[in-house]
Amino acid sequence: MQYGYFDDNAREYVITRPDTPYPWINYLGSEDFYGLFSNTSGGYCFYRDARLLRLTRYRYNNVPTDSGGRYFYIRDSVRDGGDIWTPSWMPMKSALDRYECRHGMGYSRISSARNGLAFFQTSFVPLKDNCEIHKIVLTNESGADKDVDVFSFIEFCLWNANDDMTNFQRNFSIGEVEVEAGGAHIYHKTEYRERRNHYALWAVNVPVAGFDTDRQTFLGLYNGFDHPETVFAGKANNSVASGWAPIGSHHIKAHLKPGESKALVFVLGYCENQDDKKWEKPGVINKAPANALLDKYGSPEFADKALAVLKEYWDALLGRFSVEAEDKRMARMAGVWNQYQCMVTFNMSRSASYFESGIGRGMGFRDSNQDLLGFVHLVPERARARILDIAATQFPDGSAYHQYQPLTKRGNNEVGSGFNDDPLWLICGVAAYIKETGDFGILDEKVPFDNKEELADSLFVHLKRSFDYTVTHNGPHGLPLIGRADWNDCLNLNCFSKTPGESFQTTANFESGVAESVLIAAIFVFTGPDYVEICRRTKREEEAEYAVKAIATMTETIKAHGWDGNWFLRAYDAYGHKIGSHECEDGQIFIESNGFAVMAGIGLDDGRAKKALDSVKDKLDTKYGIVLQQPAYKDYHLELGEVSSYPPGYKENAGIFCHNNPWVTIAETKLGRGTRAFETYTKICPAYREDDSDLRRLEPYVYAQMVAGKDASRFGEAKNSWLTGTAAWTFVSISQYILGVRPVFDGLLIDPCIPASMKGFSVIRHFQNAVYRIAVDNSAGVEKGVKSLTLDGKPLNGAVLPALGDGRTHEVKVVMG
Ligand code: GLC
Ligand code: GLC
Repeated sequence: MQYGYFDDNAREYVITRPDTPYPWINYLGSEDFYGLFSNTSGGYCFYRDARLLRLTRYRYNNVPTDSGGRYFYIRDSVRDGGDIWTPSWMPMKSALDRYECRHGMGYSRISSARNGLAFFQTSFVPLKDNCEIHKIVLTNESGADKDVDVFSFIEFCLWNANDDMTNFQRNFSIGEVEVEAGGAHIYHKTEYRERRNHYALWAVNVPVAGFDTDRQTFLGLYNGFDHPETVFAGKANNSVASGWAPIGSHHIKAHLKPGESKALVFVLGYCENQDDKKWEKPGVINKAPANALLDKYGSPEFADKALAVLKEYWDALLGRFSVEAEDKRMARMAGVWNQYQCMVTFNMSRSASYFESGIGRGMGFRDSNQDLLGFVHLVPERARARILDIAATQFPDGSAYHQYQPLTKRGNNEVGSGFNDDPLWLICGVAAYIKETGDFGILDEKVPFDNKEELADSLFVHLKRSFDYTVTHNGPHGLPLIGRADWNDCLNLNCFSKTPGESFQTTANFESGVAESVLIAAIFVFTGPDYVEICRRTKREEEAEYAVKAIATMTETIKAHGWDGNWFLRAYDAYGHKIGSHECEDGQIFIESNGFAVMAGIGLDDGRAKKALDSVKDKLDTKYGIVLQQPAYKDYHLELGEVSSYPPGYKENAGIFCHNNPWVTIAETKLGRGTRAFETYTKICPAYREDDSDLRRLEPYVYAQMVAGKDASRFGEAKNSWLTGTAAWTFVSISQYILGVRPVFDGLLIDPCIPASMKGFSVIRHFQNAVYRIAVDNSAGVEKGVKSLTLDGKPLNGAVLPALGDGRTHEVKVVMG
């Protein structure tokens, strides 16, 4: 069944009942301050780093699901029965006469009503400021006067989310707050007295009748969020937290005549002071940054204006690539939601979602490079800065820290390096950036190695070290050594772990010098030609020649040692045994090496590419997408690692790991099989499963990392929505390979590969300071092939639109045939 619908004009997903099969969330924030916001106002917010600077508390895996958020309790007039309810449904699970939640681009709205009182909440993070705004409008829809009490509620996190959940012996004694404006302005200042120079603000723009900042006083002993004693008593206690759990709650009284509305604006902000300006007077924090936020947003009109600015920002961003087509689901995903998700993955990497707690991982070297692929056309300058940050964590030998911390931008020592695919993703990310922008100048930027300035060299040298790393780290067959793992984090061929709880990656207990990856080889052949082009276009002919040879050698090696007869092998283990071969008992065929090898063009000349993809279809395809391998591992294999630790059908053990499905989609376009390419695209695309939400469970507007595979009893159920490389790769597959509008070093290549039944489509694409309005006519009913192409009415030789860079709009007519 369906729990909502897409409102395409508003670019919103409209959730029509609160009890979705899982919290369906949105991300508020664009640059430094972020909030996760569920359809029942659950979630939390943080400044820059979800682990270190978290403003509000959230308990993952809590019961009831999704408890904790920005809550508003309403207590209706005593003469109306003193009815108490929560308009966002949670936490009281109040029966509502109306409910709707709209998730839009960087904002969400919840509107509901009960007993003649309408509630309308708009929540967002304004551009360039570090706060959440929650504008609440109450409207009396009854025929009589109403006196309502509104109680706000948030729970502060003591900044370090990990410590906050574990170190209670200290934490229960350190909580501190300040209260001003009669309670309208609440400041959370735990640890500000010592080393912190930041505090949080929770304020409302109207006078309050009272406030609370101590959790137990507000809730009452042994009560949950669904039964706060204070709200039931109808009166705040003006409690001032001292240790334990600081919260922020305002008590506001509103008198509403029939038909009358009242607006309240709440600001939840992060404020920072210079060390020498921390205090106003002894013990009293300097409120200047808080006052600045309140001046800016402390009225409904200002809040509305800030929201309008945010909307303009998103209009401009999404205007950079938009699609019109008969297939509305594809058009809205490619034109809106997929790009939106790419922005979120770019911002968050894999840190904070409803499946990633925000305290685990930093920014991944491979993840962030891949995230760039779907983001670079939106804000190229930010992609550029990101590339330089990532490259600075590379080691001088070309290997890389697998992760780095967003706050410090330093490589993460705990995880270290040794994931041998990492270096190549840097070439992939940089190539995408240059194709999009034409900015070859980035190659001359001086970038540290291992974050050490004294080791700095040009970005080009970083690419060379990446390339060389693969050239020089090969095993017995001449294929790249896998190290701790390649893209598949769970294929741990040098880790023989018998100890429960041990990390499969970081406890790699030997480097066999034997275990090899066919996937890394394929990534090398895929991304290598971009390296060659970069060399040629910067007049490094000799290097280009060397690279061409290395790629040719690797291609031959794959053909000689990476082919199993009907598909590409996946790897060789530490004993030199094949993985992903018909000779294996389980794990006979894997998706990754097959998708990537064909993407790289291997076997297009001799029929192997077609054979490989036919095998993928035959052995791995399901109605919900392509599973990672088959047969699933039934038992734990010491020599394979984490991949065999998952029960069959989940995650890397034969789950539908959506991230690599688009590799097959792209590979299919290489064969010109548009119908099949589109089929693989739609199977994992959430909008096509909107009416199947009881099974899929997660948001119909974003991709999930995994859908349970056919071996799992919950086949078809999705997990880990939002933060996944699926976002970037599906966007690449649909925009560049199916619709076929693809940045190349010379301009914008037009090369669609679509189902024969698709009669045409149009795309508006901003590219290097010009706008291309591209109309594709497929009345011929082909799957691939451009018969003619005109640019501003003139026939063009070939299918590459030049980068005109004239700030103008250009009409492009494409006829397939
Ligand atoms: C996760 C990781 C990613 C990895 C993938 C497959 O999505 O973030 O780096 O490639 O799993 O294991
Ligand atoms: C990948 C897997 C995940 C695993 C992680 C680290 O991201 O998808 O299941 O926990 O690698 O091992």
